[in-house]
Amino acid sequence: MFYPIMLLASVVLGLSACVSASRGHDQNSTFYNPIFPGFYPDPSCIYVPERDHTFFCASSSFNAFPGIPIHASKDLQNWKLIGHVLNRREQLPRLAETNRSTSGIWAPALRFHDDTFWLVTTMVDDDRAQEDSSRWDNIIFKAKDPYNPKSWSNAVHFNFTGYDTEPFWDEDGKAYITGAHAWKVGPYIQQAEVNLDTGAVGEWRIIWNGTGGMAPEGPHIYRKDGWYYLLAAEGGTGVDHMVTMARSKNLSGPYESYSKNPVLSNANTTSYFQTVGHADLFHDHNGNWWAVALSTRSGPEYLHYPMGRETAMTAVSWPKGEWPTFTPISGKMSGWPMPPEQKDIRGVGPFVNPPTLSSSSEHLTFPPYHPLPLHLTHWRFPIPTSYTVSPPGHPHTLRLTPSHLNLTALNGNYAGPTGQTLIARRQQHTLFAFQVTLDFDPAVVGEEAGVTVFLTQNHHLDLGVVMLPLDGADGVEGGGELVPHVRFRGESYTAVPAPVVFPVPEGWRGGASGGGLVLEVRACNESHFVFGVGPEERRAERRVVMEVGNEAVSWGFTGTLLGIYATTNGGNGSTPAYFSDWKYTPIEQFRD
Ligand SMILES: *[C@@H]1O[C@H](CO)[C@@H](O)[C@H](O)[C@H]1NC(C)=O
Ligand SMILES: *[C@@H]1O[C@H](CO)[C@@H](O)[C@H](O)[C@H]1NC(C)=O
Ligand SMILES: *[C@@H]1O[C@H](CO)[C@@H](O)[C@H](O)[C@H]1NC(C)=O
Ligand SMILES: *[C@@H]1O[C@H](CO)[C@@H](O)[C@H](O)[C@H]1NC(C)=O
Ligand SMILES: *[C@@H]1O[C@H](CO)[C@@H](O)[C@H](O)[C@H]1NC(C)=O
Ligand SMILES: *[C@@H]1O[C@H](CO)[C@@H](O)[C@H](O)[C@H]1NC(C)=O
Ligand SMILES: *[C@@H]1O[C@H](CO)[C@@H](O)[C@H](O)[C@H]1NC(C)=O
Ligand SMILES: *[C@@H]1O[C@H](CO)[C@@H](O)[C@H](O)[C@H]1NC(C)=O
Ligand SMILES: *[C@@H]1O[C@H](CO)[C@@H](O)[C@H](O)[C@H]1NC(C)=O
Repeated sequence: MFYPIMLLASVVLGLSACVSASRGHDQNSTFYNPIFPGFYPDPSCIYVPERDHTFFCASSSFNAFPGIPIHASKDLQNWKLIGHVLNRREQLPRLAETNRSTSGIWAPALRFHDDTFWLVTTMVDDDRAQEDSSRWDNIIFKAKDPYNPKSWSNAVHFNFTGYDTEPFWDEDGKAYITGAHAWKVGPYIQQAEVNLDTGAVGEWRIIWNGTGGMAPEGPHIYRKDGWYYLLAAEGGTGVDHMVTMARSKNLSGPYESYSKNPVLSNANTTSYFQTVGHADLFHDHNGNWWAVALSTRSGPEYLHYPMGRETAMTAVSWPKGEWPTFTPISGKMSGWPMPPEQKDIRGVGPFVNPPTLSSSSEHLTFPPYHPLPLHLTHWRFPIPTSYTVSPPGHPHTLRLTPSHLNLTALNGNYAGPTGQTLIARRQQHTLFAFQVTLDFDPAVVGEEAGVTVFLTQNHHLDLGVVMLPLDGADGVEGGGELVPHVRFRGESYTAVPAPVVFPVPEGWRGGASGGGLVLEVRACNESHFVFGVGPEERRAERRVVMEVGNEAVSWGFTGTLLGIYATTNGGNGSTPAYFSDWKYTPIEQFRD
């Protein structure tokens, strides 16, 4: 029952999948939000005519590694993952030490100047006090060739006690950084002159106090028609989020607020797309303006949004000398004519949002000598030897070496240098099925391997095989015979169901019947995940272990990752787990 229904739904819905943007390039386009479904918050995008008329976007990544994904497009419809700004440990070693799951990379600003890509952002250690300068590690990366991971420089640090920093070059060539801070005597948008190569900054001065909303963020400056336009977000990154603007004839102000602020927000609406804010503006080859913004598919109830803050796009009309008008964000959009379809983009990553559900499905078989796909992600830096594709004797598997720490690690805050063995992809569809086959013979108490819906160390839902004493006690003290158990357990700030634990049935444990266990999680509707398990070979024996509400992973700044993990839960084990046949099958995308 479990599987046939899922497969049928997937086939039927795959045929009626959403259409991509209309192709005519002299008439207005139709397109669909989100353009980057899943955990892609705080978008920053540019149009670079000098690099083959390509659009590039960067996203926040928090503790995910590789961090700061870059997507590229030539037609505003097909966006390819071309790499990550943060792709080597030595670029920013401090990411290994962040405390709290809301820490890490916040709000990058991507810009192109002097034939160079510049990426300015803040690595936040969210555990420290707001006014503690060590909480805010402001950093500059640059690259000549964003398609080449090695081209991205190591971080250059600069001093600013705040976040969401962006570079801007004035007409005299001088570089400035604009950033935000929001405590004690704020909120403020501040600016200083900067040497982007050394990180030396001049004196910070307040250039705008916003319109009175809390937590100003994501300031961006645009020079247009003799004005400096300052765009920011206010109201906090929940349902009150909004985009506001001010302008000045002088880069350093005073900035005059627009009388019709906010320019973009879905606050106080019934839209399925909420939290619209943190926008960036760019124009295309015709000089037509567009904006990207983050948004959450939750409706105003704001209860079920496991994919978190995603990237949406909208058309902007910006006549000469006037203020811009943004089209409100919804699932189906009408906008300026788009460039003709052009999918020929360098880079090896997948397209982030293929036009049909069937072209979005994924089946990874881990063949020998193939690197892991670019879109797979870890939480902080991985220990590379913990992830081996097709190890000797186990072709077409991914071998995970367990970490001492489990997915919660140290009180959900910290993980330290030994890290967590986790590899995952983003949930990108409202309804989906994710399954993988596990071959695992644990030997020591506490050894565990399985699948997870992971939002943060404090919010994850796991279904695994774990070695426990037969009497079901959760530690060594039980004294019963050690046997592998199936275990579902959840960790969240909201109530989660009690763990479900039962011995792996005799007939499922390898041996002559062969094969591993299939572990599956699927989103069966807008509010629930269903976890199931069964022997690979005998589909009829598969059973549902848990139905659990997704509000457990609807929280905070990030979006859910679907992946696999291996841990000793602090014990003495070292038994590896072999995973194969990783399948992500989109079933439906909700847009309203
Ligand atoms: C991480 O933060 C927690 C609570 O905020 C604190 O108890 C712990 O000492 C911190 N750990 C490190 C390594 O900074
Ligand atoms: C940042 O501030 C610290 C302490 O005030 C100082 O030692 C350091 O040189 C400054 N860094 C830069 C790049 O100005
Ligand atoms: C911002 O507000 C502060 C008071 O909190 C005030 O001193 C400052 O002049 C204001 N700055 C601007 C640019 O409005
Ligand atoms: C812009 O403002 C700065 C700081 O107030 C001032 O020094 C400068 O003269 C102004 N520039 C123009 C062109 O008004
Ligand atoms: C939403 O409504 C509240 C209450 O009326 C109001 O204070 C707030 O400004 C509104 N927000 C927006 C963005 O319109
Ligand atoms: C085309 O889209 C732009 C941007 O949304 C809008 O301003 C314009 O009115 C539209 N034109 C037509 C003919 O619908
Ligand atoms: C979603 O699925 C869960 C689990 O099967 C079920 O309890 C719940 O009623 C469903 N919700 C809706 C709106 O269908
Ligand atoms: C996860 O790890 C922590 C710290 O090592 C430990 O306290 C906790 O019991 C572990 N969880 C399970 C389910 O073993
Ligand atoms: C790990 O091994 C040591 C030494 O054999 C033993 O004392 C300890 O109890 C073991 N820990 C666990 C969690 O099994």
